[in-house]
Amino acid sequence: MSGATVRGSATAARVVEASKVYGSGDTAVRALDEVTVGFPAGRFTAIMGPSGSGKSTLMHCAAGLDTLSSGAAYIGDTELGALGDRRLTLLRRERVGFVFQSFNLVPTLTVAENITLPLDLAGRRPDAEWVNTLVAVVGLGDRLSHRPSELSGGQQQRVAVARALAGRPEVVFADEPTGNLDSRSGGEVLELLGRAVRAMGRTVVMVTHDPVAAAHADEVVFLADGRLVDRLEDPTAATVLDRLKGFDGRRTGTGQDTAVRGSASS
Ligand SMILES: Nc1ncnc2c1ncn2[C@@H]1O[C@H](COP(=O)(O)OP(=O)(O)OP(=O)(O)O)[C@@H](O)[C@H]1O
Ligand SMILES: [Mg+2]
Repeated sequence: MSGATVRGSATAARVVEASKVYGSGDTAVRALDEVTVGFPAGRFTAIMGPSGSGKSTLMHCAAGLDTLSSGAAYIGDTELGALGDRRLTLLRRERVGFVFQSFNLVPTLTVAENITLPLDLAGRRPDAEWVNTLVAVVGLGDRLSHRPSELSGGQQQRVAVARALAGRPEVVFADEPTGNLDSRSGGEVLELLGRAVRAMGRTVVMVTHDPVAAAHADEVVFLADGRLVDRLEDPTAATVLDRLKGFDGRRTGTGQDTAVRGSASS
């Protein structure tokens, strides 16, 4: 696995010539069209693009929540398409963390129980020191016995981030984690995801519509019509906005081909 690859250039997750078609015949929708993209270990990558451009589909297929129509998806060096249902479930449980727009906490469990739930499901003993570190980092030490309904949206999402990190997964996928939050709570969640990468060495892949959110990432990849059309290193809200404007309505075939070729070599 990661031991076989050079440190610093390892890829936590990637898809190669990934296509996804929903439905068939006249009603078929090509949600992903030959996308090749890698998400480097120890980095924070944002996925952006217009509504319907395939961001969630890419994330779900890369994370093993959905299957590709053609092409391949890998977590580390494990090809997801080669796994049966049972091994795929285990991989999602043990090697991948998830954060969703709608928090998805279990309402009947306390904050502490929600955070260790994935470990409990996997029959793994929580590493107390790591869980304590997470609780301190998310700033919910005094809320551990509360239920999700007693927390604000931002607090709930911070619990969801801690839950996603609890098993030290190889990669955390977050689909619009700030989509339901006001800008201050959203900022705290983004800060937390950034700290998970920079201070805790984790890998995060986040779908977002928001250039300010994307600016927390190390790199932004842009999708349009199911294709990878651009990438941007060290984004700021201004440079992200600029790129979004750049291919909004005036994409050329040439520009798209260049972006896709460029990505295939990374
Ligand atoms: N289960 C499905 N069945 C049929 N079509 C689907 C399904 N899921 C997604 N699609 C279609 O695939 C395309 C990509 O959808 P996807 O959800 O990946 O977009 P997105 O970029 O995440 O959009 P948004 O920003 O609105 O969340 C869209 O045209 C969508 O309608
Ligand atoms: Mg989506």
